[in-house]
Amino acid sequence: MKGKVAIVTGSSMGIGKAIARDLGSAGARIVLNGRTLSRLESTRDELRAEGIEAIAVASDVSSWEGAQALAEAALAHYGQIDILINNAGASTRGSIEATAPEVFQNLLNVNVLGTIFPTKAALPHLRARRGSVILISSLAGIHGLPFNAIYSSTKMALTALSQSLRVEEPDLHVGIAYVGFTENDPKKEIFDADGQRIYLEKREGIRKQSPEQVAAIIRRMIERRQKSRVLSVPGHFLALFNRIAPGLVSFLYTRNRASIKANSEGAPRYVKSAQG
Ligand SMILES: NC(=O)c1ccc[n+]([C@@H]2O[C@H](COP(=O)([O-])OP(=O)(O)OC[C@H]3O[C@@H](n4cnc5c(N)ncnc54)[C@H](OP(=O)(O)O)[C@@H]3O)[C@@H](O)[C@H]2O)c1
Repeated sequence: MKGKVAIVTGSSMGIGKAIARDLGSAGARIVLNGRTLSRLESTRDELRAEGIEAIAVASDVSSWEGAQALAEAALAHYGQIDILINNAGASTRGSIEATAPEVFQNLLNVNVLGTIFPTKAALPHLRARRGSVILISSLAGIHGLPFNAIYSSTKMALTALSQSLRVEEPDLHVGIAYVGFTENDPKKEIFDADGQRIYLEKREGIRKQSPEQVAAIIRRMIERRQKSRVLSVPGHFLALFNRIAPGLVSFLYTRNRASIKANSEGAPRYVKSAQG
C-alpha cells in the first residue's frame, strides 16, 4: 500500500471509515469522501492524529459533478489515483407497495450512479496505474431480499457493473465484495418506506462482523487482486445455496416471509430529528 493513493467514497463513518483507516495504516494516502463536511473533517483529523495521510473531499458521488470533483481533488493533491473503493451507499426497508417512489429513485442514485460516476471519473487515472476498483455490494446482491427490493436490486446491479468493467478494462483489478451483516455506526441512517431518514436500530441476535474485519478483507482483495469475495458465514451458505439451488433460497424466504415482513415494517422508527 505504501505510496498508493486510495479514494474511499462514503468514508466519514461506518465501513468506509474503517477501510480508509485500514488502508491508511498500511501506508496508503487517503482521500476521504462524504456529503457532511463536519463529520468528514472530524474523521480526517482523527486519521491524521494516527499518522495517516488523508484529505477530505465533501461531494455527493451520486452526481456526475460530485464524482468529477472528487477525482480532480485527489489528482490535484496527490497527482495519482491507485485505488477506488466505491463504498457510499443508502439503505431502506419496506415492501414495494409501501415504499415511496422517491426512495427508489434515491437508492438508485446513490448505490448505482454513485458507483458508476466515481468509477468513470477516475478510470483513466486508475488505468494508468494498473489500479484497483472495489465495489461494495451486499448479501442482498446475491438473491433478491424480500421487503428490501430496491436495495437488493441496486446491489445486484453492481455485479453486472463489475463483470462489464472487468472485460472493458483488462489492466484494471475489479473486485466486488458481498458484505454481510456488519456492526453499524451509531449514526447510521436509512430511508424508511415513506422517505423519512431514520436511525437504524441495533440489530440484536444477529452475528455481525466488525467494520475492521470487513476492512481487512477488502485490503487483502486489493493486495491479491481478487475478483469477488462473499463475507461472513451466513454469506457463504447463501452464496452456495443460491448457486446450487436458488429455488431453496426463495423457498426459505417465502417460509419466513411473515417474520421478515414484521422485522422490516414493524421495526421501531428512530426519527433523526427526535434524536438530535
Ligand atoms: N452495514 C451493513 O451491515 C452493510 C451490509 C452490507 C453492505 N453494506 C454496504 O456497505 C457500505 C457502507 O455501509 P455502512 O453501513 O458503513 O454505511 P453508513 O454507516 O450509513 O455510512 C455511509 C457513508 O456514505 C456517505 N454517503 C452516503 N451517501 C453519499 C453520497 N451520495 N455521496 C457521498 N457520500 C455518501 C455517508 O456520509 P454522508 O451522509 O455525510 O454523505 C457515510 O460516510 C454501503 O454501500 C452498504 O450498502 C453495509
